[in-house]
Amino acid sequence: MVKSNIILCIALLFAGAAFAHSGVKNAAVKARMDAMSGIGAEMKVIGQMAKGVTQFDQNAARAAAAAIAKHAAQTPALFEGKEDDPKSEAKVEIWANFEDFKQKSLELENTALGLSTSIANKADLAIAMKSLGASCQSCHKSYRE
Ligand code: HEC
Repeated sequence: MVKSNIILCIALLFAGAAFAHSGVKNAAVKARMDAMSGIGAEMKVIGQMAKGVTQFDQNAARAAAAAIAKHAAQTPALFEGKEDDPKSEAKVEIWANFEDFKQKSLELENTALGLSTSIANKADLAIAMKSLGASCQSCHKSYRE
């Protein structure tokens, strides 16, 4: 009984992620999509706070920025292999311009790292969304369908 409850809990824990990426067969592609979803979720934390949907919390905002930096640091390794899946939105240009892709990951990492120690008030969140958003945009524009 106890054991099946634990299994159920674990299954529920992964249900969200599995649903979002249902049908992705290539594990390497799923891993990079999961990392990007993680970045998206952290952006949402900052965005909701910036809009006042949630209360400003300096520690939580800085932690979200730190988590984005960590994902960004892992991005080149996650994309290094030229992996594909019918569900993937990655463009093949990534592997023709991998140095540039790495540079864009690094830009996001540095921006997020800076914010992880500098966010001090609600006004900073709007600036954070703008600078982070520009970084997402600059990579997605070239490398995501
Ligand atoms: C260095 C390039 C790069 C940067 C920087 C980047 N992304 Fe991505 N992102 C990608 C690529 C490539 C994909 C498509 C991956 C795939 O489908 O295989 C993607 C996909 C996504 C997805 C969809 C994931 C899914 O479930 O399929 C989300 C959400 C996302 N990115 C959010 C963000 C946010 C938010 C930022 C900025 C804070 C960001 N990304 C910065 C390259 C980048």
